Amino acid sequence: MRTKYKQWAVDYVDEHPEIAIQKIDINSDFFKEKPVIFEVGSGKGDFIAAISLAHSEYNYLAIERVKTVAGIMCKKLVEQGNKNVMVFPWNVEILFDEIKEGFVHSIYVNHADPWPKKRHEKRRLTYISFLEQYYRVLKNGGRLYIKTDNDGLYEYTKEELKLTKFKVVSDEENYAFDSETDFITEYENKFRSVGKSIHRIILEK
Ligand SMILES: C[S@@+](CC[C@H](N)C(=O)[O-])C[C@H]1O[C@@H](n2cnc3c(N)ncnc32)[C@H](O)[C@@H]1O
Repeated sequence: MRTKYKQWAVDYVDEHPEIAIQKIDINSDFFKEKPVIFEVGSGKGDFIAAISLAHSEYNYLAIERVKTVAGIMCKKLVEQGNKNVMVFPWNVEILFDEIKEGFVHSIYVNHADPWPKKRHEKRRLTYISFLEQYYRVLKNGGRLYIKTDNDGLYEYTKEELKLTKFKVVSDEENYAFDSETDFITEYENKFRSVGKSIHRIILEK
């Protein structure tokens, strides 16, 4: 479901440096004052808006490479007024170079694009090189939360995880939404509404 290009959303990113970070500075207050949690591939930001509102004890970085989509998210977050969330409107691969080993409290990867063709495997956000970077930047004991509606990506991810040092905390093929600790995403909402089972894997470094 590709979002059509929207000039206002692209402009919004450029005009709102208070929410959209163009360059990572891990010595800035945002990265120093509280433990930092990442969401990779945030889409329009429903999840990050809700989780950051519920947990003011953390700072949240939403990473979304499509600028129109990032702009829609930025507007939502500015209107909501949360002070503990920022958006990185670039490919997550750019981010890794700037982040020290063990720096991140936890990481969420919600409903990543499945990229079903083998030739696109390296784009999947659970391809081994991404998993290795998540592992590197997480602190010891830090958690990686993966949810997907896609059966193929779920099976693929479990195979890729076997190549990593992550410990599996839980693996639910049919994850019943836990409203005490979790927050719904746009894709999850869409797939749950048509009865699709959601898979969730929680990993620990
Ligand atoms: C299928 S959407 C899911 C959005 C949201 N997490 C949800 O559950 O509703 C996946 C999103 O990940 C973003 N994405 C994919 N690869 C990315 C990458 N390498 N860096 C940053 N964002 C990425 C896409 O642009 C897309 O908006």
